[in-house]
Amino acid sequence: MKINGIPYRAIWRTEGGAVEIIDQRWLPHDLRIVRLENRAAFATAIAQMWVRGAPLIGATAAYGMAVQMAADPSDVSLAETWQILHDTRPTAINLRWALDDMLRTLAPLPPDQRAVAAFARAAQICDDDVEMNRQIGLHGLEIIREIAARKGGAPVNILTHCNAGWPATVDWGTATSPIYHAVEAGIGVHVFVDETRPRNQGAHLTAWELNSHGVSHDLIVDNAGGHLMQQGAVDMVIVGSDRTTARGDVCNKIGTYLKALAAHANGVPFYVALPSPTIDWTVQDGLRDIPIEERPAAEVTHVQGRDAAGRITTVQIAPDGTPARNPAFDVTPAHLVTGLITERGLCPATAPALAAMFPESARAPS
Ligand code: MRU
Repeated sequence: MKINGIPYRAIWRTEGGAVEIIDQRWLPHDLRIVRLENRAAFATAIAQMWVRGAPLIGATAAYGMAVQMAADPSDVSLAETWQILHDTRPTAINLRWALDDMLRTLAPLPPDQRAVAAFARAAQICDDDVEMNRQIGLHGLEIIREIAARKGGAPVNILTHCNAGWPATVDWGTATSPIYHAVEAGIGVHVFVDETRPRNQGAHLTAWELNSHGVSHDLIVDNAGGHLMQQGAVDMVIVGSDRTTARGDVCNKIGTYLKALAAHANGVPFYVALPSPTIDWTVQDGLRDIPIEERPAAEVTHVQGRDAAGRITTVQIAPDGTPARNPAFDVTPAHLVTGLITERGLCPATAPALAAMFPESARAPS
């Protein structure tokens, strides 16, 4: 997608072969591009959320593996790199998916062939992500089109949580892809953007990208969604996912579950947009079996923004020494999900439907 008219992906290789990212910690106020030169830099970038969003975390790990293979392609290095990058963030399954894919590709090769193969595979993972998200957009577009038709062409009001937009992926985003496709198709849409405390990915990133693309939106506090749904102001919810289980439980940014409950109570359809690498086929019960990342208390007690002098700064909002809990994700049970928008189409959030849509990946229940 474009920033100031210039097309960007969220991660790319320069002509000289370096891997660069947008350091998302400074958006929307500052566009800082960073070159990741070694394994430690990749691990830091993922753990400290310079890059974030499940698909982008996976793509970044793939390139991290490639950069390490150029430095040391040995078996020991391969195994260590899988572990080091895997341990950066626990919840988004795309990370393990991408690392396993790289390992499968590289392990059978002689070490002197691994670097070239690793860069090629990482590039393919990125291109595949872009294409999957584009397909998600086309399938989601049909849902938006139907709602627009029911409303006689009046704008379709969509609520989204966190940032499942293009900066969370290589390009297009998952939840935002149907929105961009609807705008391109000339369908009126308006987006309610949850600010998404504590890190405010909605306020910092989703509002920024929608603004860059001229998509009508309002930023709302996280607590406003239920009220807007009661008022009939929301036609549908679309969120992303960090890990969706084989039976359709959806783990996503903290607060997603409350939106799903409010949507259910108010008869608002609740869709989850996700590429298939976000499905964890080894897990059924999301509440029991998905590790929920606990992040630093300082993310709750402090907020980052830009001061009147234009400096990006962090301020404390809680009393000195306030204890805080910071679970970063929650699980929405499948029965609250109206449908999963995947690259192969709209899928009910049930084990049989998911298995029928992805027969090559589904496992027999144990
Ligand atoms: O902690 P983050 O910012 O990595 O969390 C991101 C989300 O929860 C997104 O909704 C999810 O990764 C889907 S991104 C297409």
